[in-house]
Amino acid sequence: MRITDHAGHPLGASVEGFDHTAASDDDVAALKETVYRRKIVVLKGQELSPRAFLELGRRIGRPETYYEPMYHHPEVTEVFVSSNVPEDGKQIGVPRTGKFWHADYQFMPDPFGITLIHPQVVPAKNRGTYFIDMGAAYEKLPDELKHEIAGTRCRHSVRKYFKVRPHDVYRPLSEIVEEVERKTPPVVQPTVFTHPMTGERVLYLSEGFTVGIEDEHGEPLDASLLQRVFEATGQLDRTFEHENIHLQTFEKGDLLVWDNRSLIHCARHTTAPEPTVSFRVTVHDERKLHEGLEAA
Ligand SMILES: [Fe+2]
Repeated sequence: MRITDHAGHPLGASVEGFDHTAASDDDVAALKETVYRRKIVVLKGQELSPRAFLELGRRIGRPETYYEPMYHHPEVTEVFVSSNVPEDGKQIGVPRTGKFWHADYQFMPDPFGITLIHPQVVPAKNRGTYFIDMGAAYEKLPDELKHEIAGTRCRHSVRKYFKVRPHDVYRPLSEIVEEVERKTPPVVQPTVFTHPMTGERVLYLSEGFTVGIEDEHGEPLDASLLQRVFEATGQLDRTFEHENIHLQTFEKGDLLVWDNRSLIHCARHTTAPEPTVSFRVTVHDERKLHEGLEAA
């Protein structure tokens, strides 16, 4: 196994020669250390079946199965499928997922620490995923803004991007909304927390899932505060040219592993949709999202 940090950029490393069936525990520990240190790791030369992908994920942590079954791989439910390519005329998984800034499962009470993506059908032109390092973005915030968000908490919900399911057709919208709010009520997390693996201070919010900000007593703060933080971190830049935004490209055979605590991501926007399929496995590592949850 050979680890090479991507030159000229604080994010990213490539790992060659990783075989999850033969890797020692030390190899896995070195891989995870690289995920926390470089935040994105590209495992090269992986051509894994859904089951083998899940097994690789199990070497890294405890898999979390997505709560909505329509995203599941038909044979391996722990594998989440994003696809716009029907198989035998049938939709597998869900098309056009994640085209908004978010951290995976940010709207859930116990988000996992690590996301793994294994692209299956790689678009010819618009490949890659956009990332923002929210540790670095926090560091760069103007002091006044850091001061304004100190001690605050954010409210996260799936409501803006919940995708209606095939069986929702003909249901009243109000009933669907009521179901979403009942099954996935908003969760509250500190706006800034200490990454339990690195000690870094991380800004935990996203334009896709964060719906409110409140003071330490739970009193809602003006929505413009959140907008200013979204703006300052680069999330409102529709050209994706903001200096905080990193485009991570990939090719067939790559498997991306990233730190879901400190990175937010956004699927690349394509005007003319190209065939694209990717599998995702998400895992909990040894720690909760942050120490506040650890104690709860
Ligand atoms: Fe995602």
